[in-house]
Amino acid sequence: MHTYLITGGAGFIGANFVKYMLATHADAQLIVLDLLTYAGNVHTIESDIDGVRCHFVKGDIGDRALVESLFEKYPIDCVVNFAAESHVDRSIEDPQLFLVTNILGTQNLLNAARKAWTTGRDATGYPTWRPGVRFHQVSTDEVYGSLGPDGFFTETTPLAPHSPYSASKTSADLVAMAYHDTYRMPVSITRCSNNYGPYHFPEKLIPLIINNILEGKQLPVYGDGSNVRDWLYVEDHCKAIDAVIHRGRAGEVYNVGGHNERKNIDIVRTIIRTIRQLMTKQPAYRDALRKRIAGPDGLPTVDWIDDSLITFVTDRLGHDQRYAIDPTKISTELGWRPETDFETGIVKTVRWNLEHQDWIREVISGDYVGYYERMY
Ligand code: NAD
Ligand code: DAU
Repeated sequence: MHTYLITGGAGFIGANFVKYMLATHADAQLIVLDLLTYAGNVHTIESDIDGVRCHFVKGDIGDRALVESLFEKYPIDCVVNFAAESHVDRSIEDPQLFLVTNILGTQNLLNAARKAWTTGRDATGYPTWRPGVRFHQVSTDEVYGSLGPDGFFTETTPLAPHSPYSASKTSADLVAMAYHDTYRMPVSITRCSNNYGPYHFPEKLIPLIINNILEGKQLPVYGDGSNVRDWLYVEDHCKAIDAVIHRGRAGEVYNVGGHNERKNIDIVRTIIRTIRQLMTKQPAYRDALRKRIAGPDGLPTVDWIDDSLITFVTDRLGHDQRYAIDPTKISTELGWRPETDFETGIVKTVRWNLEHQDWIREVISGDYVGYYERMY
């Protein structure tokens, strides 16, 4: 039995990882630690928490006593740190929480793991470590800054973050590697491109556009829509992390991405087209529409769902132009490759959103209302 501390496991990628690990590793016991901020939703993983293979603890990764108590209570041998403030626009609005959670919270986890996992010292004074332990930091391609029209981020690309969010993630990466270099702690890092898929919080581009279409709202595109992101289906990210924590080398960074670059404007147009096609083929999907205009057949029409909904709005401050990952290292060393192409993944994602309206309604109540009004 391996015991994993999964932080941020009630958020988008963390929850997908919890489900993926339970489905693929029969010997896994998961301890999910999540503060349940606006971005966390325990209902997402409610059916996974059985008190045997999966335990849930509500709390802060920065809470020293709590985190140390988890290492005392459970035989944790792997930490996968997803917990973070993750939204760039919120970091521009109010940076401080990003530094506290993403940097100090990560350092608190590292320190608790160090305390629990060191077994003594070797002849040269370095700590010795319980065999088989691993601290894995889930990081982002944003630490590398922005690319021009050509080239890719490799693991040796200089770190050059721009937003308060990416600066905090970069700092956390440096602190994590400092624990490796100073104490020889078995630390690994993955830096992944933009994820999409089920349980994506609708402040992020793809689920925001889907939700706005259903509500009949304008679709806000920052600047001229030419910024490029490199999109990866979330399950492929989970598989990459699984490969790195079990087979990746300690002290190493692995970039994760699927060579799937898209301009934001093209993403928005693809979603408009996909929703129209799905609703035309399967009229039952129109139940998800909150803006309903009756067509001649009495069903809500989809005629109004077109590119005229797109509105170009004021650009994000310091908006990175292009991200693109070179995943050669993880592919050649660990045999990881993305399995879901974008055309398949985006249809699955739109369908998931149409079929999980209760989940969407729950997460867009409360904090989201005020946030949306401030932003748009
Ligand atoms: P998310 O915002 O959906 O989820 C973050 C989770 O962390 C939430 O459940 C939240 O409640 C929890 N959390 C926040 N502060 C906490 C604290 N102090 N203590 C405990 N829990 C806390 O984020 P996500 O999109 O799932 O991203 C997960 C991780 O992956 C982040 O570290 C992010 O930087 C990284 N990442 C995200 C993407 C992406 O495209 N979303 C890509 C690459 C890397
Ligand atoms: O690259 C990995 C990163 O991807 C992660 O580290 C972050 O946690 C995650 O939030 C994501 O950051 P982005 O800023 O790239 O994602 P977001 O969905 O916020 O925006 C994607 C692009 O779409 C970006 O260029 C900004 C643009 N955008 C976003 C929103 C919310 C719009 O044009 N309109 C919008 O309303």
